Amino acid sequence: MTLKDLLSNPDSHFILFGGKGGVGKTSSAACSALWAAENTDKSVLIVSTDPAHSLGDSLGLQLEPGTVTPVPGTAKLFALEISPSKAFKEAQEKMGGAGGLDMAMGGGMEGMNVPLLGDLGDLAGMSPPGADEAMAFGTVLEFLENSEYDLVIFDTAPTGHTLRLLSLPELLSSWIGKLITLRLKLGKLMGAFKNMFKRSKDKDDEADALESIERLKKSIEAAKGELQDPARTSFVIVMIAEDMAIYETERLLSALISYQIPSSHIVVNQIFPESLDCSFCKSRREFQLKHLVEIEDLYKDDFDVVKVPLFEKEIRKFDQLRRMARYVVEGEGGE
Ligand SMILES: Nc1ncnc2c1ncn2[C@@H]1O[C@H](COP(=O)(O)OP(=O)(O)O)[C@@H](O)[C@H]1O
Ligand SMILES: [Mg+2]
Repeated sequence: MTLKDLLSNPDSHFILFGGKGGVGKTSSAACSALWAAENTDKSVLIVSTDPAHSLGDSLGLQLEPGTVTPVPGTAKLFALEISPSKAFKEAQEKMGGAGGLDMAMGGGMEGMNVPLLGDLGDLAGMSPPGADEAMAFGTVLEFLENSEYDLVIFDTAPTGHTLRLLSLPELLSSWIGKLITLRLKLGKLMGAFKNMFKRSKDKDDEADALESIERLKKSIEAAKGELQDPARTSFVIVMIAEDMAIYETERLLSALISYQIPSSHIVVNQIFPESLDCSFCKSRREFQLKHLVEIEDLYKDDFDVVKVPLFEKEIRKFDQLRRMARYVVEGEGGE
């Protein structure tokens, strides 16, 4: 199946683009999203989960972190850059602020503010930055559960980061699981005392906080099921024709296998064109073609390997993105 078929397929829902930094993830994701919005009748959301955002730059517009923006000049394309720290704050507020989380823990954290993050992180053996990202990802998944985009394209962070992101539903799920269990245990212990002093409003807040944690957990579980369903989800690996990128791809692939995320396409980007009349370019190209043979040997049985040339200028705005889509999506050979 070519990327064109994948994007047009009515069952496809999530397409994730990932790989090393600078290889062309954002450009590949953005050109695919634009192609799908212009050539299918799907409504398309492109989400950047890379903290080093460049999605706005690629599309040629200003994106406000955490806000879905309709992309001007298109009928059905929407873009979103997620800011983990902002999403974390919002999730915290939704759960009733630090107080809500405190209540979810069954009390006993009165007066704690920032160190809260560390304590929660420890619950699932996560470092606080992990907790931060988990909440951001969880919030996106919850949002997606309740939104109506036909196709959601993820422009993910460089490999290491992405792999952590993929493990977050599990971490968050178990983290929330522990939170709730702990709450129930502590709640039983402390309930008798607390109820003597509690005002009725406190009880409502507590119920709200627990309900919102439960809802988040349900969304994450539903999204995880979808992320692992080959009919609904596909991970596209973006790479360049170099040894380092091959090692990185191997690592990414084994992680995808262990998280059971289906993957079917590899984009080999930035191949020096044959037409260039310079010895430097010719030797770069020769070196790339050698690696291309190796890449095809390794992956062509299991993946659709897509080849994209290096263009004379950076990929920005619609004309360039459409040009790139001819190779990434429509299958024009770029070697
Ligand atoms: N095939 C290509 N030809 C020319 N420039 C490219 C190509 N692919 C990507 N670029 C440029 O390289 C830079 C990095 O690409 P980007 O898509 O942002 O990578 P990533 O998201 O993987 O970091 C950008 O300036 C982009 O415009
Ligand atoms: Mg990027």
